Amino acid sequence: MIVRPDAPIGVFDSGYGGLSVAMEILQRQEHDNIVFVADQAHVPYGTRPLSQVQGFASAITETLAAGGCKAVVMACNISSATALPEMVEQYREIPVLGVIAPGAESASIATISGRVGVLATEGTVASGAYVRALEQFTRVSNVVQVACPRFVPLVEAGTVSGAEVDSAVREYLQPLKDAGVDAVILGCTHYPFLLKALQKEWSLPVYVNPAYATVTRLIAELGSKRLNRSGHIGARRHLAVTTGDLEEFRSGLRWYLGDKAKEFTVKPATWRKGKIVIPNLPPSSK
Ligand code: DGL
Repeated sequence: MIVRPDAPIGVFDSGYGGLSVAMEILQRQEHDNIVFVADQAHVPYGTRPLSQVQGFASAITETLAAGGCKAVVMACNISSATALPEMVEQYREIPVLGVIAPGAESASIATISGRVGVLATEGTVASGAYVRALEQFTRVSNVVQVACPRFVPLVEAGTVSGAEVDSAVREYLQPLKDAGVDAVILGCTHYPFLLKALQKEWSLPVYVNPAYATVTRLIAELGSKRLNRSGHIGARRHLAVTTGDLEEFRSGLRWYLGDKAKEFTVKPATWRKGKIVIPNLPPSSK
């Protein structure tokens, strides 16, 4: 498998949440292009059986890697919780990263009391992946997880403020307030878009967005595999694909990315016999 430093970075999620990670990559890897995949035909992932999510995440990773991407970032906690180890093993030539280990490490640094809260989807909570990752750090003494099924549909609908958001935020933060945590992991990539509402309800804890540490790891791994691109590439051209409604996706990208959305070509992707087909990816150089 030949991988080129000028190949794009593949990034995927069930929906708009992955943009919170993509935005971090765009900001810090200014010479790179990305391919962003939103599997909106299957959103939300968080209420599905873990084995099904593992299947989606593995298939998307395989298509991005076979299409020549120089790295694949699972910008999705539940995908990271289910599919990451196998995919890392399968694609040793390129960095394949998830968000859970970087998020757990950031929280272990942020906490003073040792009590860490995790807001995540039902599936990520049930997987126990954050609990296992946080247990590695002696600074962490207590982990309190809260499943937040109301959040993803709100963010997918572009609703990040207002009465409905405030009521969901109040409900989900209460157990963390009761437990007295001082660091709260945003354990679903959709949740950073609700940060203002969370801080308005409870400003005390440090809210940890795993995106920052994930991209730090991505940069380090690209460097160690000599896949960092140096030099100017002119105007950036990113690709964004959805398995859902194309027009809604176009306006969703504008809503979440603002002017940056102009740098994206938007196309449909389709599921065929358990594989995802993404147009415009360079053919595999395997
Ligand atoms: N944003 C994804 C995550 O980080 C999945 C959310 C969902 O589709 O339920 O887990």
